[in-house]
Amino acid sequence: MRVYSIGAVSVTVSGPTLSLRYPAANDVPRLFELGSDPAVTRFFSWGPYGSPDEPDAYVASLPARRERGDLLDFLIVHREDGPIGVTGISELSARDRRATVGSWIGKPWWGSGANFEAKALIAELAFESLGLHRLTAWANTRNGRSQTALERVGFHREGVLAAWHRHGDVYHDVVVFSLLRAAWERGPLRRVAAEVSGEPPSAFVVG
Ligand SMILES: CC(C)(COP(=O)(O)OP(=O)(O)OC[C@H]1O[C@@H](n2cnc3c(N)ncnc32)[C@H](O)[C@@H]1OP(=O)(O)O)[C@@H](O)C(=O)NCCC(=O)NCCS
Repeated sequence: MRVYSIGAVSVTVSGPTLSLRYPAANDVPRLFELGSDPAVTRFFSWGPYGSPDEPDAYVASLPARRERGDLLDFLIVHREDGPIGVTGISELSARDRRATVGSWIGKPWWGSGANFEAKALIAELAFESLGLHRLTAWANTRNGRSQTALERVGFHREGVLAAWHRHGDVYHDVVVFSLLRAAWERGPLRRVAAEVSGEPPSAFVVG
């Protein structure tokens, strides 16, 4: 039997229509359904999922990755529709108080405002609970939708990094975006009512 959690406390973030919580074993079928869509994973190094074993291995890897400060991923759960995607924090530099945010949402919820609220919830956690000073986001130079979505929630376009991500044998240029604490404090995401409950993993708490 696979062990998914080692009894560590968890953290959740709640907003008006969405909440963020750790993915669990019984979320695997839904993750498989959502991540099997090639439109969703087109710009990722993984996917589309071909077997439930893939989201199963991903979910099983998360407790250890949270413990070591590698990846803090959350399921985005819609109040009525249930799980609709994933958002999370990675590439943490505790010294510099910065990390990267990444998200994906099932296609039926694109353009629904879910991305906006999910970004507000993860930003609340990042700046208020973890003490970060900067969030970075990457978007493939060909992923126009993601670039527009990031600017819409208040991220600032900084430039292009050549051959920054490798997917198989192919290197991809990415646009780098940032959201600094001061910009978040006066920006649109902060206006979303977001409540953090529980304790984030200590490896991610920097401030
Ligand atoms: C990226 C993602 C989370 C954004 O969420 P979203 O709900 O689609 O974002 P929004 O609707 O708020 O903003 C996207 C907007 O981009 C614009 N847009 C659409 N296609 C575009 C294109 N090719 N170029 C530029 N802008 C585009 C539109 O204005 C669109 O809004 P609209 O459909 O309401 O008119 C979601 O599309 C997703 O999960 N995509 C697949 C995974 C992914 O690419 N993740 C990001 C990795 S960096």
